[in-house]
Amino acid sequence: MDSHTLMFGVIGDPIRHSKSPVMLNRAFRETGVNGAYAAFHVVPERLEQAIAGVRGLGFRGLNVTIPHKVEVMKYLDEISEGARAAGAVNTIVNENGRLIGYNTDGIGYVRSLKEEAEPDLSGKTIVVLGAGGAARGILWALAQEGPAAVFVANRTEARAAELAASFPAELGISAVPWNGLRSVAAEADVVINTTSVGMSPNVDALPMDPYWMRPGAVASDLIYNPLKTAFLSGAEERGCRIHGGLGMFIYQGAYAFEYWTGQPAPVAPMREVVLASFTIRQAEQS
Ligand code: ATR
Repeated sequence: MDSHTLMFGVIGDPIRHSKSPVMLNRAFRETGVNGAYAAFHVVPERLEQAIAGVRGLGFRGLNVTIPHKVEVMKYLDEISEGARAAGAVNTIVNENGRLIGYNTDGIGYVRSLKEEAEPDLSGKTIVVLGAGGAARGILWALAQEGPAAVFVANRTEARAAELAASFPAELGISAVPWNGLRSVAAEADVVINTTSVGMSPNVDALPMDPYWMRPGAVASDLIYNPLKTAFLSGAEERGCRIHGGLGMFIYQGAYAFEYWTGQPAPVAPMREVVLASFTIRQAEQS
């Protein structure tokens, strides 16, 4: 670091578990960008001051995580279309003093799905399990790929109906009843779990019977702890292609890097350093 170093960071509460600093600092080192990225514990009462600090100190960029992704929007100068559709901002770019909010979670997820499992989503039938913030974040990005249909199924059916209705009808996003899930899953090319079912420590729980899917279809899970959920293991046994949640994290960071620097992100080293930090943590815990 020297007097030219560009400053970046991530704010959240809690924040000490975040893998973003190791991932982004590795990306800067790999590409020779003179940047530095740190994690800042910002409680909700200090959010406004934190954003004023970004302006005052001239940080080039910031990632925003739970619980600030919605609240932060009111302190920014401009919100991208994708962030407005997702209803949340996770990446801020400081363009000569103007703070612009983006959402790279949904597009990061879709880029990971395309790179790692299904390169062409156009004309495909996609089923999304769950209707929370994570589902909202990916629906708009999925719809940009021109799928034949996107169905949302949720245990609390009213939430699925409300979520689907919040998007323009021409995006082809519709809700299906929870007990209609089996028949749409059988027709689906891609089934995506956005619920927390199967996340550590409840690693045996299933959001849906993976045998409802047809062999060859793609099963995708936003969960990355564990890296392979029970849903993905079952789908693999069924003969499905599988896609885990780690790629979403890597590619949301890759897009942030690209928005800040204008350069392609070094995705392979970013993934490598994140995977290595998981292995270290697992070794420490055992
Ligand atoms: P997030 O913002 O991470 O998506 P959320 O808004 O709490 O979190 O949403 C969690 C999602 O997981 C919801 O779709 C929730 O279903 P409900 O709307 O019915 O609560 C879903 N979910 C959580 N536990 C579940 C379970 N045991 N079975 C089925 N769905 C579950």
